[in-house]
Amino acid sequence: AKTHYHDFVIQATPVKRLCKTHNSITVNGQFPGPTLEVNNGDTLVVNVVNRARYNVTIHWHGVRQMRTAWSDGPEFITQCPIRPGKSYTYRFTIQGQEGTLWWHAHSSWLRATVYGALIIHPKQGENYPFPKPKRETPVLLGEWWDTNPIDVVRRATRTGAAPNVSDAYTINGQPGDLYKCSKQDTTIVHMDSGETNLLRVINAGLNQQLFFTVANHKLTVVGADANYVKPFTTSVLMLGPGQTTDVLIKADQTPSRYYMAARAYASAQGAPFDNTTTTAILEYKTASCSSNCAKTKPVSPSLPAYNDTATATAFTRKFRSPRKVEVPTEIDENLFITVGLGLENCPRGARSRNCQGPNGTRFAASMNNVSFVLPSNFSLLQAHHQGIPGVFSTDFPAVPPVKFNYTGNVSRSLWQPIRGTKLYKLKYGATVQVVLQGTGIFTAENHPIHLHGYDFYIIAEGFGNFNPKTDTSKFNLVNPPLRNTASLPVNGWTVIRFVADNPGVWIMHCHLDVHITWGLAMAFLVENGVSELESLESPPVDFPVC
Ligand code: C2O
Repeated sequence: AKTHYHDFVIQATPVKRLCKTHNSITVNGQFPGPTLEVNNGDTLVVNVVNRARYNVTIHWHGVRQMRTAWSDGPEFITQCPIRPGKSYTYRFTIQGQEGTLWWHAHSSWLRATVYGALIIHPKQGENYPFPKPKRETPVLLGEWWDTNPIDVVRRATRTGAAPNVSDAYTINGQPGDLYKCSKQDTTIVHMDSGETNLLRVINAGLNQQLFFTVANHKLTVVGADANYVKPFTTSVLMLGPGQTTDVLIKADQTPSRYYMAARAYASAQGAPFDNTTTTAILEYKTASCSSNCAKTKPVSPSLPAYNDTATATAFTRKFRSPRKVEVPTEIDENLFITVGLGLENCPRGARSRNCQGPNGTRFAASMNNVSFVLPSNFSLLQAHHQGIPGVFSTDFPAVPPVKFNYTGNVSRSLWQPIRGTKLYKLKYGATVQVVLQGTGIFTAENHPIHLHGYDFYIIAEGFGNFNPKTDTSKFNLVNPPLRNTASLPVNGWTVIRFVADNPGVWIMHCHLDVHITWGLAMAFLVENGVSELESLESPPVDFPVC
């Protein structure tokens, strides 16, 4: 195994998109940021130097970080931010993961431009469980704002209203030829007739789930979230922010140019969303247009309608592990967590300009009625490790405080969230089941739920209220998929299981950044086991404190 050293300099860089240039925060001046390639078993050492005027942290999305929670990265969860002018070195080893992950800033909305692919090849000398493709191409889907995304979220926090939706989606940083001033920079992916390409598709968007397709080509799904899956073919993918999907695509059509495209899967009824389409071009090198390709119009794709929940759900339900897996069956901790948007009455004395949500309220989102608040003086991990009192409590409720028809039309008086920094404590090695239950309190929506530090089995999902008497018959305990981000279906439920074998403090949150901003998160505190190998390592010397 190798050790890879990288320097990430966080800096403001002029980036031109949609006819306008503005200073964006980037890594090493690149947008999207550098692609890191490693083999399973390798160690990454990334020295992050902050030359921007914002606080920053970097999260290695999906990396298990066994015993190295100090390198996970979410601001105020595992570390205090890297202040302007300061630096921090993340150090971690990839253990048993293969496929596609990614890295992104985990501070405010910086990840709009601070992100990149993390590609994990099999161990040296080992092979993929499918024929080695001729090429491999990362396909990063993103969202672009015509203004500074940090200003967009700051304004939303101040006013209590919903933030502006993005102005474009992007593929590898480029909106593509359907947007103004973007045609000449459209991303082009070349292929030779007959060859196979492994597309590593990542939804790095901030707030939008996306459908993705390639005109006239079948996609064979072989992996997701750095876990192999039992291969299946499809013409369209749906990825929530945070999710990755590896697909094989064969250049088996008439040599020509074909669009790749992505657009919103917008499951929330009536809520505004960015209704534009991003494109890239798959170009056969042997295309008869070879001398004058720019003039050949690519073949058009067909994407599902923005509200096509049937297609989105049919897709997520196709995932299986390639073979029989060991799902924990004796459950030590059984949690039932409601996940939902909501509204908060304006605090007394608040000014109306701070309460511009629907009917003079503010948006708030919660899990089991708790709207998560980040600490500001310590990270939760440091507070836990050093036993500093008063930073968090461990009374996150295992079940909702009130029972009601979660997916019905409920009055919001039933559901005023409380604010708090509440953790749920798990003993080392505990087997955990979490039923995630979507709610229809303000508006029902599909939520991509991401757990740090773990992969979990998704053993079942469905619509409506989870019924513990009948729905357990739907559990797949044989070959469920192993992932780090689950699509909780709109007005529905998802059941996940994992073993708490990684000590530390691990946030579980909706990966729509606007929902984290509103508090859609909780965190697990996983205690050390008995031996040193079951315990958190000591913090690095340059660990940022507040
Ligand atoms: Cu991809 Cu908490 O993040």
